[in-house]
Amino acid sequence: MIPVVDIDIKELEIEAVKKVVESRFLIEGKHARSFEEKFSKFTRSKFTTTIVNGTAALHLALVALDIGPKDEVITTPYTFIASSNTILHAGAIPIFVDVDSETYNIDPEKIEEKMTKKTKAIMPVHIFGNPCDMKTLADIAEDRDLVIIEDCAQAHGALIDGTHVGNFGDIGCYSFYGTKNLIGGEGGAITTNNEELFEKIKSIKNHGRSSAGGYAHYLIGYNYRMTDMTAAIMNVQMDRAEEILSKRHYNGGMYRKLLGNLEDIKVQKILPGHTHSDYIMAPLLVKEGISQEQIIEHLKSKNIGSRAFYTMLCYQQPCYKELSKWHLSRVIEYPDYSEVKCSNAESIAKLHFELPMVTSLSDENINYIIETLHDFFEK
Ligand SMILES: Cc1ncc(COP(=O)(O)O)c(C=O)c1O
Repeated sequence: MIPVVDIDIKELEIEAVKKVVESRFLIEGKHARSFEEKFSKFTRSKFTTTIVNGTAALHLALVALDIGPKDEVITTPYTFIASSNTILHAGAIPIFVDVDSETYNIDPEKIEEKMTKKTKAIMPVHIFGNPCDMKTLADIAEDRDLVIIEDCAQAHGALIDGTHVGNFGDIGCYSFYGTKNLIGGEGGAITTNNEELFEKIKSIKNHGRSSAGGYAHYLIGYNYRMTDMTAAIMNVQMDRAEEILSKRHYNGGMYRKLLGNLEDIKVQKILPGHTHSDYIMAPLLVKEGISQEQIIEHLKSKNIGSRAFYTMLCYQQPCYKELSKWHLSRVIEYPDYSEVKCSNAESIAKLHFELPMVTSLSDENINYIIETLHDFFEK
């Protein structure tokens, strides 16, 4: 089977972890500092701090920006549940805005109608690694005095006019979960260009201590630190970032070129000047009478891995429909999520299918996948 997930870990990463274990200094230390420096260079964000995972990064970003009880945060329903869950974790209320039917990302034109006096923030998600329309979102945020937390979990290497995503809002949040472009097993990072905010984030991630450490706690915080074993893997992944990402961009480019003449499917639209991270290639079926399940099963029968993502949108999840069971429902009144409808997101959820994008994909594999799709739609 040509896999949809193939972990790109080499001897170098294994050696790096071994050295950390042998050093007996396993907690966040010099490897984390070195990774942070490399990640700041890579994203061209002034400040980076390592975080235990992407979910914690989003939660911490909200807390650091003082988004809390009863505040409303505008976000997309077409994402991994972690994005909107962190809004709930902060005590705030996720307000779902529909996505654009072609980019799969939050549609800035639909934000205004969902804004209220309680709206405090926007959390755009660069879904599958496709940059959101950040310039329009930043204009909205400026006009309405909102903060932006960019969910860049899937967007390592995604650019807008040459600037890495994560630099258009107040905070960028990354995940290095073991299937992403750059991986640490679990892992995350926060980037920002605001020094004061950076110091606050570093403190909250370490139980509200000052940078001197010790047992005085100035802010209510969490333990969201990364281990130095993870940081050591991330250091090697950063050294290999160009190799890894250029292969992914090559794969994405090949698909976009070779699938362009197939009328029955449509690849995710990338806005002008934007560079996709090429994390996930998930075209939409536009031919009537063929279901998502059929195309996925057909690809698998031809030894091509394929999946569908987020077939249940955030607001459709059982836990959102039964939010009265969530402990904060005792003090916060949530919208009735069973009444939310985002038609474009619902249709993308039903009509997309994944194609392998892994770095081990050969030209032969790509040509075989393209041929298989042509045979399927043109027979
Ligand atoms: C869009 C998105 N946001 C947030 C997260 C959460 O990151 P993590 O799994 O590192 O907690 C993920 C997934 O892994 C994700 O895909």
